[in-house]
Amino acid sequence: MPERPDAVINDTVTHATEDAAMNQPIPQSTDASPDLPAAGAGIAVSARSSKAVAEDGPLQAIARGETPASAIHDSVGEHEAVLEIDHFDFWYNQTAQALYDISMNVPYGKVTSLIGPSGCGKSTLLRSVNRLNDLIDGVRIEGDMRLKNESIYGQGVDVIELRKRMGMVFQKSNPFPMSIYENVVYALRIDGERRKSVLDEVCERSLRGAALWDEVKDRLHDLALGLSGVQQQRLCIARAIAAEPEVLLMDEPCSALDPIATGKIEDLIDELRGTYTILIVTHNMQQASRTSDFTAFMYLGRLIEYGATQDLFTKPQLRATEHYITGRFG
Ligand SMILES: Nc1ncnc2c1ncn2[C@@H]1O[C@H](COP(=O)(O)OP(=O)(O)OP(=O)(O)O)[C@@H](O)[C@H]1O
Ligand SMILES: [Mg+2]
Repeated sequence: MPERPDAVINDTVTHATEDAAMNQPIPQSTDASPDLPAAGAGIAVSARSSKAVAEDGPLQAIARGETPASAIHDSVGEHEAVLEIDHFDFWYNQTAQALYDISMNVPYGKVTSLIGPSGCGKSTLLRSVNRLNDLIDGVRIEGDMRLKNESIYGQGVDVIELRKRMGMVFQKSNPFPMSIYENVVYALRIDGERRKSVLDEVCERSLRGAALWDEVKDRLHDLALGLSGVQQQRLCIARAIAAEPEVLLMDEPCSALDPIATGKIEDLIDELRGTYTILIVTHNMQQASRTSDFTAFMYLGRLIEYGATQDLFTKPQLRATEHYITGRFG
């Protein structure tokens, strides 16, 4: 395994020494925090680093250049996983490690949020799921991910076929310079679908799914670039769901939108819940708590804590998580 970059470790040390208490697991219930579970309750801790975590918490361990075990709540294991991330490491430029031993299962039909400070690796993890990072020179991975039990990084995986099984929505909407209709049916066209009845049906179903049909049904052949920002983002969601993906990946889909438009996208995510498995990156803590069933907190390339959103926000198992979600660092 390559050396971890000093810059990252030094940065971590600064953070970690600012508040030693941040690095502690939340202690057994006390008068000050009667609703908090006992330290370590329900936490999956590997033999490799359980000692460090128990002694001084994950951030201190990270400051020493270690990768502490993630605190994964038992509730995650109670759901069928559609996507399994299995001891996944990721390096840019061969040596700059961005993800450290990430293991997490993404539950079927649920909305899972990735949260954490800027640069902690949320987008890298999301883009690793559909192998978008393959397009960057010099990246290297270890470990694997599985989509419905099929390896994502195994030998002989057809990456184009793999990407068809996942939809991706980016921070900034990116409609193609073509009509609304052609944007939505783009993936089917690429696949050689020519039957107008099929294309029409998929177009309507996807636009309805993205709560955009009523607004655009009379101008399907107008240029997509003429739509408003939030309509463009909903169009991108329609395009992503047109191929009926098994997982929908969203990287801060609301960050370029105003609060009203953000509310519309959040309502849409709520409607898509159950039909689609959604993995969404957000910087907005309220958004994570409003929209997602599960939330994963990342820090400096590590998965720190992962559990049902309500539990993570109201009774996190680790002090570090509590401090992050209450805005005390990051
Ligand atoms: N193409 C790249 N080449 C080299 N390093 C990169 C590249 N993209 C990201 N990184 C680095 O990898 C780390 C993780 O970045 P990433 O973009 O995944 O973080 P993030 O959590 O999504 O941050 P943000 O919240 O700001 O979007 C950072 O240190 C970043 O500088
Ligand atoms: Mg990002």
